[in-house]
Amino acid sequence: MEQKEKKTELVRGLSLTAAMMIVAGSMIGSGIFRKPATMADQLGSPELLIFVWIAAGLITLIAVLVNAEIAGMIDATGGQYIYFRKMYGEFTAYIYGWSILSVIQTGSQAAIAYAFAEYLGYFIKYPEIPKSLQEISFFVPLVGNIHPFVDLGTKTIAISVIFFLTIVNYIGVVFGGSVQTIVTFIKIISILLITFLLLVLGNGSINNIYTGFKFHPESTAGLISVLGLAFAGAFWAYDAWNNITFVSGEVKNPNRNVPLALFYGTLIVIGVYVLINIAFLYVLPIDEMAKSPLVAATAAEKIFGNYGASLISIAVIISTFGALNGSILATARVPFAMSRAKLFFKSLGKVHPKFGTPHISLLVQGFWSCVLVLSGSFDTITDYVIFASWLFYMLGAFGVFVLRKKMPDHPRPYKVWGYPFTPLIFVVFAFLFLVNSIISDTQNAMMGLILVLSGVPFYLFWKYFDRKNRD
Ligand code: ARG
Repeated sequence: MEQKEKKTELVRGLSLTAAMMIVAGSMIGSGIFRKPATMADQLGSPELLIFVWIAAGLITLIAVLVNAEIAGMIDATGGQYIYFRKMYGEFTAYIYGWSILSVIQTGSQAAIAYAFAEYLGYFIKYPEIPKSLQEISFFVPLVGNIHPFVDLGTKTIAISVIFFLTIVNYIGVVFGGSVQTIVTFIKIISILLITFLLLVLGNGSINNIYTGFKFHPESTAGLISVLGLAFAGAFWAYDAWNNITFVSGEVKNPNRNVPLALFYGTLIVIGVYVLINIAFLYVLPIDEMAKSPLVAATAAEKIFGNYGASLISIAVIISTFGALNGSILATARVPFAMSRAKLFFKSLGKVHPKFGTPHISLLVQGFWSCVLVLSGSFDTITDYVIFASWLFYMLGAFGVFVLRKKMPDHPRPYKVWGYPFTPLIFVVFAFLFLVNSIISDTQNAMMGLILVLSGVPFYLFWKYFDRKNRD
């Protein structure tokens, strides 16, 4: 027992810079290279597109500031899972942890791996799948009917990369804080460089960006629902800022550094995203952008021909690979923490005797991510992930009020700016966003909700029947 405890004692080795790079490095993954096309198609207006990227960034920043107050107070491994335990008790925390494993993080991994595979497809031609095979479907509990043979090539690569990184993390090859810093740094620099080159050599037109505010859907109701969908896309690209909280047990001086890293990391990402979108629009008119799923590659092709597109594809492959690795690494800590809290299979809390990793937790997570790869396309997966995430962002922001009541005297190194309005505004916005998703994207929202709620029977089982993990 003593031995085991020692192995899970984590080292506080992450500096402020490393923590900041973990924030930015988890956020920048697939979304910025993949979502602008979908959003361009939905919005049909460059002004609206830029507006959504800025607004979604600022709303994310509010979420970040609100959470920074809590991150400054509580610095345990497991992050948000622990916050929920303090705010609302065991049940909500359990459902959150369950959702992380069943949809939020595993769905994210599936989608990021999918984007990785799509961009790899720039170099490899995946074989055509016969129509008869594509029609085969079967039922998976929690996920519904899946068509495993549709886009089989992309899916096979996506599954392979998840498998590969799971094994890498299983045998304990951990990309440390410094590696994360370097990779993220390269990511940011290459995006800024692409932006710069597109703007200087792109031979584009400023008229692509300013078209006199002509909007796609003429009715207001249509506009709101379309905006909601586009916001969901941008929120995907901005998501994962919270991953740092899962590893806050390893950050130096976490009460100060985690809030700061959250704030600066997010600011960097907003800047980078808005700039590159302006650059994309400069070279690609909105209609062309809507038709270019590999938008970054298409834009670069305009300047450097095939050579440019290959370079960008490599950048995206590295970016998604890094984000995927970070997610696989960080996420395994949540079911691990739940098992240690005696609310989950005991084996998930095990540490590999030789490699010192939460190996069972990693394998279960990897398996489920692969099932989710088979379940749908990139955009469907990201939509239900975002729905589930935002449900908990809303609850988390409301939790600031709860903790001010429950733990009034607990030291708060950072108190959220603009209290009580900032958290209130966020809670209201999140609520409206969720309602709009249920109305305009019913199927994906429901899929997210079903995966979240599927945790309830499991919780009851653990609470009342399974006592094996409760010694
Ligand atoms: N922002 C990331 C990207 O654009 C995806 C984040 C996934 N969400 C998460 N909670 N891990 O690829």
